[in-house]
Amino acid sequence: MIPIQKIIITSGPTREWIDPVRYISNASSGKMGFCLAEIFSTLGLELVYIQGLTESRYSDPKNSRVVNVETTLQLRDAVLAELESNTLLIMAAAPADFRPIMVSSQKIKKNKESGISQGLLLELEENPDILFQVQEDIQYHHYNNVIRIGFAAETENLSQSAQEKLTKKSLDGIIGNQVGDGQGFGEVSSSLLFFWKGQEVPERLGPASKEVLAKLIFESLLMRFPSLSRESKSKIDSQ
Ligand code: PMT
Repeated sequence: MIPIQKIIITSGPTREWIDPVRYISNASSGKMGFCLAEIFSTLGLELVYIQGLTESRYSDPKNSRVVNVETTLQLRDAVLAELESNTLLIMAAAPADFRPIMVSSQKIKKNKESGISQGLLLELEENPDILFQVQEDIQYHHYNNVIRIGFAAETENLSQSAQEKLTKKSLDGIIGNQVGDGQGFGEVSSSLLFFWKGQEVPERLGPASKEVLAKLIFESLLMRFPSLSRESKSKIDSQ
């Protein structure tokens, strides 16, 4: 098996504009993706960090080539542009699943005349599922040896939903994490369920900080894909 030569890590939220002032986004800070980039950069492989609107402290990790995106469509285009054979893709980003059908060129005004609030009806359309399109792109271009690791952010039915996404998105592994009510996003410690294709029982990682979780994910991937590298493990262990 030809070893992995490139690592792509996506991180942070995307942003879909409603008008020049307002947008739809989510609570992702970029910390999980950033911690993964920090530790995977020790492998000395080409590492592309595709960052959405990550907090500045979780942007521009060292030893990485950084690509900035804003919308889910831009994230999709950036991932597909970087995709090639012998690549590890870790999708830690939180892409917005929907975008407004119409983006107003002027700030939408509240309707004052009637004196009663009219509310605002937003019509949204679905954004593409990037990991689904990655699978299509791999088939179309006949890429081989592309390892795909997704995340599942769930507020309920974590185990079942993560396994469904593992299959639907044709992933090698998926990392399930509970989000909402102060969990999952930002500075929190998390517990992860790492499901692997063809394996019923997940690896349980944590509860731990995202710095520690990134190291555990790193070690789990190295165990399963030794071609990622050997010498780097001793480097990490000595840290
Ligand atoms: O950034 P932090 O504050 O550190 O928070 C970390 C995190 C909670 C954002 C992260 O751990 C996480 O769960 N990231 C995935 C968030 C997400 O979009 O989950 P999902 O279950 O909606 O998506 C499943 C997978 O499909 C993800 O790998 C996602 O990147 C991908 N996806 C999602 C939407 C879309 N249109 N295309 C995709 O490929």
